Amino acid sequence: MRRIYLDYNASTPIDPAVAAAMLPIVDQHFGNPSSGHWASIGAKAVLDTARSQVAALLGCHSDEVVFTSGGSEANNLALKGVFFKLREKGNHIITTAIEHPAIVEPCRFLERLGAQITFLPVDGTGRIDPNDLRLAITPRTILISIMHANNEVGTVEPIEECARIAHERGVLFHTDAAQSIGKIPTEVNQLRLDLLSIAGHKIYAPKGIGALFVRRSIALEPLIHGAGHEGGRRAGTESALLAVALGKACELVRDLAAMERVRVLRDHFWIELQKRFGNRVVLNGHSVHRLPNTLNVSFVDRIGADILARLNGVAATTGSACHSGRVELSPVLSAMGIGADVGMGAIRFSLGHPTSRDEIDAVVTQLTEVLAVPG
Ligand SMILES: Cc1ncc(COP(=O)(O)O)c(C=O)c1O
Repeated sequence: MRRIYLDYNASTPIDPAVAAAMLPIVDQHFGNPSSGHWASIGAKAVLDTARSQVAALLGCHSDEVVFTSGGSEANNLALKGVFFKLREKGNHIITTAIEHPAIVEPCRFLERLGAQITFLPVDGTGRIDPNDLRLAITPRTILISIMHANNEVGTVEPIEECARIAHERGVLFHTDAAQSIGKIPTEVNQLRLDLLSIAGHKIYAPKGIGALFVRRSIALEPLIHGAGHEGGRRAGTESALLAVALGKACELVRDLAAMERVRVLRDHFWIELQKRFGNRVVLNGHSVHRLPNTLNVSFVDRIGADILARLNGVAATTGSACHSGRVELSPVLSAMGIGADVGMGAIRFSLGHPTSRDEIDAVVTQLTEVLAVPG
């Protein structure tokens, strides 16, 4: 069986250069970066370098980077950290109907503590209307969190405009950039962001490391209290090993030229599917404002999970999930107003740096064979 991996939005393999950068930490720099003696000097130096590599990708200062355990923790720190700090000022948080559970669930948790959450609707392509945001802001709004790009359909949100609206009203703006980082520009000053979350395992670093950008002027309540690591924003001895991996990965994905090659492959994939299946295949997500690696398509009147099960060796994701024996549409596709006849047939293919044209052609051939058999 030939294995073809088209699930890079779920996770990426570790880049060999990232793995190589981690090796010296494994056998040399074991000291505690905070110790201040000979054994800590190496660890502290690599941690500093890693932080500046992350900062270079985001276009921010090194001291604005807080290392976390991943995207989920970064999102939790942003939402809860702001809420706990500003709850005297207000309790209203605005987000969208298509966020990752790492935003939705902290919001639900904060609701139980008295927060009021507004989930902005999206259109059929998965985009929010900035005017809806304008209308949703109240004097009690303390934070707006809108994802940069959606993990399922790849739609890129108009966050620059949303951040401008937030700042006109004196509200902090956070974006979950776990999917956009390394795929499209994510410079915090260009996008006018106050907080931004990233996850290492989406950009060829290992799982268990991520970061939150926190603008210098912003004070957060930490989630983990302890010694003053990470500028008092996240206690716990830093893992130089994982930080180095994230730093190297950030350095590698800074040049977005590789994503242009991926975009061409992704578009080739879509053109081939249209040629073979005509109006029996539908694109989910925005045709233009979309991540260059993501192709979420629906095979009309078919079940995506059944198709995937019949593809041999292809790793991809469906747009539906089985809950208590029933197949249900994903909340993202539901929020986009996609009906069951189309939505149930959704499959997300997400490409990465190692994806080849040969792999795409092999998947197209398999899909043609599988779909020739009535569902
Ligand atoms: C948009 C988005 N946010 C957050 C996360 C969570 O990141 P992590 O798995 O590093 O906690 C993911 C991962 O799937 C994601 O796609």
